[in-house]
Amino acid sequence: MKITVIGAGNVGATCADVMARKELANEIILVDIIEGIAEGKALDMWQTAPVDGTDTRVVGVTNDYSKTKDSDIIVITSGVPRKPGMSRDDLIGTNAKIVKSVTEQAIKYSPDAIIIVVANPLDVMTYTASLVSKKNRNQVFGMAGILDTSRLKAFVAAELNVSTRDIQTLLLGGHGDTMVPLPSYTTVSGIPITQLLDKDKIEAIVQRTRGGGGEIVKLMGTSAWYAPGAAVAQMVESIVRDQHRILPVCVELKGEYGMKDVFLGVPVKLGKEGIEEIIEVDLNKEEMELLTASSNAVKNVMGVLDNMNLF
Ligand code: NAI
Ligand code: 2OP
Repeated sequence: MKITVIGAGNVGATCADVMARKELANEIILVDIIEGIAEGKALDMWQTAPVDGTDTRVVGVTNDYSKTKDSDIIVITSGVPRKPGMSRDDLIGTNAKIVKSVTEQAIKYSPDAIIIVVANPLDVMTYTASLVSKKNRNQVFGMAGILDTSRLKAFVAAELNVSTRDIQTLLLGGHGDTMVPLPSYTTVSGIPITQLLDKDKIEAIVQRTRGGGGEIVKLMGTSAWYAPGAAVAQMVESIVRDQHRILPVCVELKGEYGMKDVFLGVPVKLGKEGIEEIIEVDLNKEEMELLTASSNAVKNVMGVLDNMNLF
């Protein structure tokens, strides 16, 4: 198993580190455009292996895609992160060109690889990688929902003083302010959250989840990387270990939830072929309206990409 991570910044390096510690591949190639950064971080990670007693070989390269040849999975984290006051959508002008260029170079050497997009605006960068790679939708998809649900779970666990392990939840829609956390699908060891927390507390957690990325940008001046890196690794693990996990993933909808021609977060089953199944859950009227609003917001930004005339 060979995995390429493009972008050796905060998210890319963290993701490579988590994957190496879990030995998800024999080889991880870390690529960056800045001379030395990927090489240095990869060397540091490889020198962690003897401490951990692991054998995943991490190798860094500067823009040399020949070294990524025959990768099974390509993770795209290259792109600028948000600064305070910016929305994820503000990044499209810069990141669309980066994602287009790195996807082109990567698939030249690994035409059969599964592509996982991380750069923001996530849903539209997944669309970008899909346009470039022309791959079937089960092989090109984006990470956001695992991060967003993880934030929700963390807030619920802290509020109730319970283990994060016991919380299950579901969240649909775009990776932005319009995301749709679903309290109706949130339980603690099977107990509906509505029996454990009052309406106002649940609403506060929903709102904090929607603003979870922005909360961290405000604190640090740049966006998060520990939870995002771990979230990507969880998707990769489900693929390389063929776990068939059901996880929220950004994928092109073709009629599911009554929507098409839009890239949106929905629950999918993830195994060695990539997305094996898109799962449709029942939604009430209000939840469906929120999902439609989220879809419309993503479609607007997809329109911005279309108007950039990159394709
Ligand atoms: P960062 O600035 O720490 O790292 C980005 C790296 O990409 C830098 O090392 C940069 O040199 C590299 N890069 C830029 N252009 C490149 C190119 N053409 N080829 C190869 N490498 C290139 O940023 P960070 O924090 O790692 O975030 C990366 C992206 O991921 C951002 O767009 C951010 O918004 C997004 N993100 C998405 C999340 C999600 O849930 N989908 C979560 C967290 C971040
Ligand atoms: C986040 O939600 C930046 O999209 C990233 O933290």
